[in-house]
Amino acid sequence: MQILVVHGPNLNLLGTREPEVYGAQTLKQIDDDLRQKAQEAGVQLETFQSNHEGALVDRIQAAGRDGTRYIIINPAAYTHTSVAIRDALAAVALPFVEVHLSNIHRRESFRHHSYMSELAVGVICGLGPMGYFLALQYALSHRGA
Ligand code: DQA
Repeated sequence: MQILVVHGPNLNLLGTREPEVYGAQTLKQIDDDLRQKAQEAGVQLETFQSNHEGALVDRIQAAGRDGTRYIIINPAAYTHTSVAIRDALAAVALPFVEVHLSNIHRRESFRHHSYMSELAVGVICGLGPMGYFLALQYALSHRGA
């Protein structure tokens, strides 16, 4: 089984970007830890970050052809705007968990709506980087589901 972790725009700046909202960990630290946890479970995990909507759509489409079994995605700002990313997730029909570092429901009202949540297996928000690890744990225990 292969797990794909997708990070949307500005998440490459984690560690320096509004640390009071998003924490001090860098994306590389999070990705390295995720890869290690997956490896310990004998599972291949790939991470992908882009600031570009089309690149995110292309990577999700590719997941439909490359053996990916589960997606963990933080679409970042595109959560609230992107019908294209939602459609890509619907098209590949792979189970996915939506993750947000911050609690989007405690923030500005434009962050309260997600185009993705309706299609997600589950949504984790507000738990910081731990959200990715909980999503991974879930994906590992529901392989193939
Ligand atoms: C985010 C929340 C989004 O509203 C925001 O645009 C982000 C990150 C989060 O992880 O908390 O870039 O998805």
